[in-house]
Amino acid sequence: MKKVLFLSAVLAFVSCKKEVSENTDSKTETYSEGESVQAKTPEDLGKELFEGRGNCTACHLPDQKVIGPGIKEIAKIYKDKKGDLVTFLKGNADPIVDPSQFSVMQTNFPITKAMSDEELKAIETYIYSHLK
Ligand code: HEC
Repeated sequence: MKKVLFLSAVLAFVSCKKEVSENTDSKTETYSEGESVQAKTPEDLGKELFEGRGNCTACHLPDQKVIGPGIKEIAKIYKDKKGDLVTFLKGNADPIVDPSQFSVMQTNFPITKAMSDEELKAIETYIYSHLK
């Protein structure tokens, strides 16, 4: 009888273990699925951040000045002057587009500083995509 109990305990343990490893497998699957959802181009991600979390469209439209300069104008000036958008958005570079209005743009740095390098690079790619 003792043996049977022991055996079933071992079996229970083994089957538990199996379940755990199955769970891990399915987690890996969900993770890779999540990854493929994220497998969009940097330009797409940048657009999403620009319009969504960054709320940049409140002041920056592609072709015209609203509160801030148009996206095309920013892209053109940064290209001409070889500016570094990522450094600017981290709050570590002087404005080169419209320094007189810099204080308005500065209010957004808490948002952009909280973004990862990858996200800021994506925004940079999105801004430069307006040069095409
Ligand atoms: C409240 C309005 C407002 C919002 C929201 C805003 N900006 Fe601006 N932005 C401005 C103004 C005004 C300027 C012009 C001043 C300047 O050049 O710094 C500017 C300038 C810029 C420049 C040019 C900086 C330079 O070198 O002169 C970049 C790049 C930029 N914004 C990116 C962004 C991004 C990315 C977002 C979203 C995370 C954003 N802005 C959100 C108002 C805004």
